Amino acid sequence: MAQPRAHFTTSFGFLMAATGSAVGLGNIWGFPTNAASNGGGAFLLVYLLLTFLLAYPALMAELLIGRERHANILTALEGLSEKPVTRFLGRLLGFGGLLTASLILSFYAIVAGWMLGKFLEPLAQLLALPTLARWLEADSLWRNGLLCLMFSLLTLAIVARGVSAGIERWSARLMPLLTLILVALIVYVLTLPGAIDGLRAYLLPDFSRIGDPALLLSAMGQAFFSLSLGVGTMLVYGSYLHRQAPALGTAEGEDPLPRLGASVALLDCCIAFVAGLLILPAIYVAQAQGVAVFGESGELLAGPQLVFQVLPNLFASLGQAKVWVSLAFFALMTIAALTSSISMLEAPVSALNERTPLSRDQSAGLAAAIIFAVSLLLIFNMASLFDLVINLTTRYSQPLLGLGLCLFAGWILFSNRRLAELRARNAAFGHSLFWRIWPWYVRLVCPLLILAMLVQSLR
Ligand code: PHE
Repeated sequence: MAQPRAHFTTSFGFLMAATGSAVGLGNIWGFPTNAASNGGGAFLLVYLLLTFLLAYPALMAELLIGRERHANILTALEGLSEKPVTRFLGRLLGFGGLLTASLILSFYAIVAGWMLGKFLEPLAQLLALPTLARWLEADSLWRNGLLCLMFSLLTLAIVARGVSAGIERWSARLMPLLTLILVALIVYVLTLPGAIDGLRAYLLPDFSRIGDPALLLSAMGQAFFSLSLGVGTMLVYGSYLHRQAPALGTAEGEDPLPRLGASVALLDCCIAFVAGLLILPAIYVAQAQGVAVFGESGELLAGPQLVFQVLPNLFASLGQAKVWVSLAFFALMTIAALTSSISMLEAPVSALNERTPLSRDQSAGLAAAIIFAVSLLLIFNMASLFDLVINLTTRYSQPLLGLGLCLFAGWILFSNRRLAELRARNAAFGHSLFWRIWPWYVRLVCPLLILAMLVQSLR
């Protein structure tokens, strides 16, 4: 690599890109219904706790490894140690991460394509193109494939432009827009009849479920998915940060990264929480309009049924506002998905670009084409493969990879010897609470907790 490595131009740019990666479909449709069906305010508490106890330390592990090694996940983990065994394990973990990121993108792009279709539908109506609107509405392999292709091309167009001109610029534009649309929709929905019942269902805590292992696992999976962990996206974003000094810790004092990471985790939780202030009231407004919002066994309709059935039925009942509300809602979903999908694609693209003679454009094109081929495979085998891939990648693979990354960061990157070296070089380094607790925490506590939760879920 003769050229200097790409980097984020400002901390704000990094913050928007990393928060953009974190805030996605997981926050807007996953979190609120998960919370509503799992004890409301009590789930919120468990989720916050798990985010800061498990997911935040793992996020820091990725960001720190990335910033120290200045490389993609594969090269970074492979190069952390000289020993053949750890090099091999690093390679394994790196490949696992890249594979998982690509598989997640392959199903994510399908769902995001549906969102794009739902956004284009009211536009087609506005432009008096009823045939197009009908085609977008009817479920078909062609529609799913073409919408997924459109969304994948959007993702590719941004990633191919590079880190600062593509990822950073577009995240910094899209994230404020996303927040604006979200707030506007909440203000509107809260004025409709039934909204307050939704707030009640969302926020009133039901503590009877708090020790339930299923709830814990669901909250952990949600937290790992939401912070984009284990698959090398956060690691590669960390690798585009400038290294502060010759080593961690600036001469003036403490390292800013723990604070930046905490801001990403906090913003991610905030947006998930705020999305609930839209989704739950919307569900109860729909109920007040006569739309069925509960399933056969009395559970709240969630997932695809919620987004593609309950909410569109609600929008349809809003008269004049219908077109604008659906445009805004599905623009929100598409934007949230796009800032996440660019980070997923960046993981394999950075590895291809740095490890093969391919240019960034070529790497991006190749990775996007392979992932789109997998998406097509899923579209043609929806019934057998779709849920399987989602469960394997998000429930098991992500927490397991996160566990591996914690071990690498704790035992190799920040071994006792290295911490002592850093302290010797910079007296100010390592005195904050973070540096006193975190190395121990990711070496032992975090991996054990993740493991305990996974074992629980298998029993
Ligand atoms: N965090 C994203 C969301 O909540 C999903 C994601 C997973 C993004 C893994 C990147 C990597 O939707």
